[in-house]
Amino acid sequence: MSKVLIIGACGQIGSELTFKLREIHGAENVIASDISHSNLDIVNSGIFEIVDAQDYSSVKTCVEKHKIDTVYLMAAMLSATGEKYPMKAWDLNMNSLFHILNLAKETLIKKIFWPSSIAVFGPTTPRDNTPQHTVMEPTTVYGITKQVGERWCEYYYKKYNVDVRSIRYPGIISWKTLPGGGTTDYAVEIYHKAILEKQYQCFLSENTKLPMMFMDDAINATINIMQAPSDTITIRSSYNLAAISFTPRQIAEAIKAHITEFAISYAPDFRQEIANSWPRSINDSSARTDWKWRHTYDLQSMTKEMISQLKQKYATSSEELS
Ligand code: SER
Repeated sequence: MSKVLIIGACGQIGSELTFKLREIHGAENVIASDISHSNLDIVNSGIFEIVDAQDYSSVKTCVEKHKIDTVYLMAAMLSATGEKYPMKAWDLNMNSLFHILNLAKETLIKKIFWPSSIAVFGPTTPRDNTPQHTVMEPTTVYGITKQVGERWCEYYYKKYNVDVRSIRYPGIISWKTLPGGGTTDYAVEIYHKAILEKQYQCFLSENTKLPMMFMDDAINATINIMQAPSDTITIRSSYNLAAISFTPRQIAEAIKAHITEFAISYAPDFRQEIANSWPRSINDSSARTDWKWRHTYDLQSMTKEMISQLKQKYATSSEELS
């Protein structure tokens, strides 16, 4: 029986991954951890430990205490916050990865999931149908940490036989837990504001097209790559992964089909430059061939689900988006 640790379990993806992994492995075999008790749904719904991803002994103590064999390292500083705190982003994103890779090298753990991102690409990358193997000159600190991280993952696989698996996530859209500090966060905020205020001021310009994905698809991809037989994983840096690409104008149109009075305005800020450096669409044929990746949600079905779930959520709580 697998014993699983999620580091960064209170975050946008970590929280939903925790719920899914508890369904698969049983709640007693899945340990959620984070640096603080910032998500009470996670803290109160199963085993939870405070773990500082940057502190080797903090991570190692938790791994030994619970006899962990598989780690999902979901803690990271994202693109927009990383530009405000470059050294903090570097330290968090790199130290946490090295700790986990070294625990696997020392055979304390057997298997690792570590997410990469479309941020590994930069302005010199082909922006449409971006290939798996292409020019990668990221211009954000976040993108640099993810690109370097990918190199180290492949290195540890080749040199030390560490079973590490990775996906380059696009922007992830979900209704349970808010994202924090990313350039693609607008595509989550817009739904909350549409329901609460019937209007949204977008920090990206109307025709900025970016690769995106609904959370359910992202969780399925994560579980699928981890369950795939090791010899089917031919890429040990990180896999391109794609579902949908859209612009702020297109997502606003999809929302208007449900909330007719919704109005969007545009006030691009420093995040526009980050978005301009990323691909518009991604070629993920390697993931589709190697471990049979398929996405389910398009912009319309995702919008329907987001609006219905968020309407229920706001109807049953006093929660408000600040
Ligand atoms: N969603 C991330 C960000 O915007 C990209 O991986 O930073």
